Amino acid sequence: MSRRSLAHHIASPRAIVSVAVDAEHSDIAAYILMLSHAQRRDDRLYSLAVAPTHRGRGLAGQLLQECERLSHAPNLYLEVRTDNDTAIALYQRLGFRETARRKSYYQDGMDALVMIKSKSQ
Ligand SMILES: CC(C)(COP(=O)(O)OP(=O)(O)OC[C@H]1O[C@@H](n2cnc3c(N)ncnc32)[C@H](O)[C@@H]1OP(=O)(O)O)[C@@H](O)C(=O)NCCC(=O)NCCS
Repeated sequence: MSRRSLAHHIASPRAIVSVAVDAEHSDIAAYILMLSHAQRRDDRLYSLAVAPTHRGRGLAGQLLQECERLSHAPNLYLEVRTDNDTAIALYQRLGFRETARRKSYYQDGMDALVMIKSKSQ
């Protein structure tokens, strides 16, 4: 996600952002951005990234669970590249399931999986 796009979304009243801070280095270790929809049923997990030096410690899962707590929607959904095995495995572990596939969704032609999680499950 570009810096400009991130700045735009963070300013939106629909955005819920959660950040993990590396206190020792006064830096951001990870962030998650969720967009809520007034008229739609489901909230969308729009962007999630963990800094390379902080990966493999469960930070993404913690941020996702925080978003689930903050969301008032019955379902959360997200799109993920079909070649992003690490992210897909993480989402499956946390209870997301594949609901659709979007052909050539990304600029380089890669497909997206649409994954959804019902908060009542
Ligand atoms: C996908 C991503 C958010 C996962 O974040 P994370 O906090 O590292 O997640 P986890 O700690 O649960 O680790 C996920 C897997 O990464 C692998 N991993 C372990 N150590 C790692 C390390 N040092 N560096 C990279 N990956 C590592 C492991 O396979 C781990 O799975 P495990 O729980 O079976 O060990 C992170 O890799 C990332 O930011 N990737 C780039 C952006 C991205 O793809 N975002 C998602 C877009 S939909």
